[in-house]
Amino acid sequence: MIIAIDGPAGSGKSTIAKLIAEDLGLVYLDTGAMYRLVTLKALNDGILGNLDKIIKMLDNLNIDIKENGFYLDEIDVSEEIRKPIVSENVSDIAAIREVREKMVDLQRKFSESKNVILDGRDIGTVVFPNADLKIFLVADARERAKRRYRELIQKGENVEIEEIYENILKRDKIDSTRKESPLKKAKDAVEVDTTSKSIEEVKNEILRMVNSNI
Ligand code: CDP
Repeated sequence: MIIAIDGPAGSGKSTIAKLIAEDLGLVYLDTGAMYRLVTLKALNDGILGNLDKIIKMLDNLNIDIKENGFYLDEIDVSEEIRKPIVSENVSDIAAIREVREKMVDLQRKFSESKNVILDGRDIGTVVFPNADLKIFLVADARERAKRRYRELIQKGENVEIEEIYENILKRDKIDSTRKESPLKKAKDAVEVDTTSKSIEEVKNEILRMVNSNI
């Protein structure tokens, strides 16, 4: 079984996907984290903005997704990839065709002969157009910024809500207007607006869809 959850930043994808995975015993893949790993590598190498070097870097890219975290060059960088500096640059990296081809390839390999739930921007449209269930999560941008702000403050980050709001709007724009696999709702995806719903409500709504789909 393959469940695809797409939607813009802060719409609740990863929270919901994790809970559904637990409930149904599926493997969860956070595809956004993969683009974040590539972005962190480009930042560390000081090659942001250098398309040729970024493409070359992909040949020796050493990323790993384990149960307990995300690894870059054998180091657990799960915390680092959520930092604002990565969020500020990730959409430009994710717009590069060669980066996407490599990530989509890894996502398909990872999912082979597994029951999976994946979240991202292009899962239902490009990565798994034949997914068993496609959900498109949306929420008001102000609400999404609030959620992300709370998350980062809890982690001890020193952030301003306005900056987060601006970053979310900017990423939404880059992600949905890029040429390669833009963020958009697949024709056969079910849209769920999470603005004024609790996590529990959204989870149950999706679980009902899964059950009626089987
Ligand atoms: O968690 P959040 O919604 O902030 O973002 P994310 O899921 O970690 O994704 C970070 C960025 O990666 C997005 O803004 C997209 O630019 C890119 N992305 C993508 O292009 N395709 C995916 N399947 C997943 C993420």
